[in-house]
Amino acid sequence: MSEKFYITTPIYYPSDKLHIGHTYCTVATDAMARYKRLRGCDVLFLTGTDEHGQKIENKAKEAGVTPQQFVDQIVCGERGILDLWKLMNISNDRFIRTTDSYHVSAIQRIFKKMHDNGDIYKGKYKGKYCTPCESFWTESQLVDGKCPDCGREVIDAEEEAYFFRLSKYAEPVRKLLTETDFLEPKSRVKEMVTNFIDPGLEDLCVSRTSFTWGIPVDFDPGHVVYVWVDALFNYLTALGYENDAHNDVDKFWPADVHFVGKEIVRFHSIIWPAMLMSVGMPLPKKVYGHGWLVMDGGKMSKSKGNVVDPYILAERFGVDALRFFLLRTFPFGSDGNFSNELLIGTINTDLANDLGNLVSRTVAMVQKYFGGTLPADQEADAAMDAELCEMVSSLRDRYEAQMENYQFQNALAEIFKVISRANKYIDENAPWVLAKDESKKARLARVMYNLLAAVRVCGVLLTPFMPETAEKIKQRIGADRYDWESAADMRALPETASVQGGDPLFPRIDAEKELAALEAMKPKPQSAVEFEPFAEETVDFDTFCKSDFRAVKVKACEAVKKSEKLLRFTLDDGTGEDRQILSGIHKYYEPEQLVGKTLLAIVNLPPRKMMGLESCGMLISAVHTENGEEKLHLVMLDDAIPAGAKMC
Ligand code: ME8
Repeated sequence: MSEKFYITTPIYYPSDKLHIGHTYCTVATDAMARYKRLRGCDVLFLTGTDEHGQKIENKAKEAGVTPQQFVDQIVCGERGILDLWKLMNISNDRFIRTTDSYHVSAIQRIFKKMHDNGDIYKGKYKGKYCTPCESFWTESQLVDGKCPDCGREVIDAEEEAYFFRLSKYAEPVRKLLTETDFLEPKSRVKEMVTNFIDPGLEDLCVSRTSFTWGIPVDFDPGHVVYVWVDALFNYLTALGYENDAHNDVDKFWPADVHFVGKEIVRFHSIIWPAMLMSVGMPLPKKVYGHGWLVMDGGKMSKSKGNVVDPYILAERFGVDALRFFLLRTFPFGSDGNFSNELLIGTINTDLANDLGNLVSRTVAMVQKYFGGTLPADQEADAAMDAELCEMVSSLRDRYEAQMENYQFQNALAEIFKVISRANKYIDENAPWVLAKDESKKARLARVMYNLLAAVRVCGVLLTPFMPETAEKIKQRIGADRYDWESAADMRALPETASVQGGDPLFPRIDAEKELAALEAMKPKPQSAVEFEPFAEETVDFDTFCKSDFRAVKVKACEAVKKSEKLLRFTLDDGTGEDRQILSGIHKYYEPEQLVGKTLLAIVNLPPRKMMGLESCGMLISAVHTENGEEKLHLVMLDDAIPAGAKMC
């Protein structure tokens, strides 16, 4: 009987289209699932969508459709989630939607089970409530103390709700985290224990009455199940737990690993095991919290206008190149800074130069020197072959050690060390020189064989990452065996292998041209120019009149030493004495641009010291945000206005 392997991705929240960050986790899970299949395991790879909750209800309302229509469009519509996984060659065995009827009824039974065993009880939910949005928020969700959706004031409010006795499971969960390898990477354990368990786990509110788009609590109409209870149990309902749609609980539970993004580690490593303990089910063997893909140091989000569309990238660069890039470039457990430059650089270096060239040079030489089929008459390996052969023969073991620890980047690095070594082997052996000497034919055949054999082993091990490319490589080098066992045996390629030519596997990308094209396609933020909100408070006329605004002329301007921001202005304010004002605007102006200009200043602010210099007043500027970037313009007056003129 083959070994079972059950692996999951988080189920995606279809409130917006997926971006490259979402694609990252699914590609990683796919690579792992394919790796396990390559090893002969009986794999179940689950992914899906998490379709309930207030946010979806609100978005559907905005779009003028029902919540079901809204999620259907994002999940099943053109260029939706299902289309994307197909495009990305994701080999999931099952896809669950939390609106699937078997899941809905299973969640109702599970909720009742936890209610019946006393772990779910009725209480009062207290929180911040936004009346126009009819939404409860926690303190930490508020933005500047206001509703994160509409920006309006919130009030303290309470509603009747069900609670899960999370506090009861604090100690068993602590043990699970600190005494086992349940959660990885290890760095995430400390974060969970110090941030959540040490301060004391509170019971969790697991039902809502303020909206309806959720799974109804069947024994108490008006309540819907909290979306995380609904979502987490997908890993079990998709196997047939508390339903008849599937029958795989005994075969595949407990899951071997849940891959999840770092921000949802808390749900998977604290709440999920506690609920499983409550229903008496075994715990998953592992939760692996991967890092985020970030851009310019910040998380990807639509509002930042920096969402990277996986459709566009896959269509321009190829699915395999994109899959490869994601796992080759970033360590899975940590954050990685995504950029188009990095993507193109990786494709050009690793795929076009190193892998692509190795395959095309080797195949072309076998064609040129042997008409496409190697002769059986080959010399034995020479001493100079030993290093390459040793590296190829031991590659599978090194790769396996990394893959078993989800270190995709390191596994690929091992393969690329061999690819580099093989390219070097070509240069060392100079087949074009051997080919000129008839007596070296058998040696030449051996060199070419070793190269094809190295390419074959790399090709097998690249299969989980680049399934289509690996298959092309197999065809080109005439390999018949391409299985896991054969990857440990360099000689599994027949000596008389026949090669086939073809287009370059990865054509070199003109980086400059491509970057310009991508830049032009960048989605523009919905509102390119943004201003500070207008002040709500009024200021009385007399107070306003106290502010003394004057025209000032710039006599001199220079950067303040040791300060990146400050400019020091010497100003004519009409009094006959120079006035000094410091202003933090060096980012926007070079000092020499400003000399001679007539500016606007408020002159009766109390003097302030900055970097040891006194500033007597403030220059007035206009500020706004454009495409997320802060812009500033000094208010410049007509030069006909004399220095000292009062503004009123
Ligand atoms: O969290 N880089 O769904 P989701 C890497 N429905 N990963 C990222 C990312 C980025 N920039 N942005 C998002 C949910 N992700 C829940 C899961 S599971 C029972 C319920 C990852 O659509 C994120 O970390 O908001 C998460 O693992 C996954 O995409 C889905 O996020």
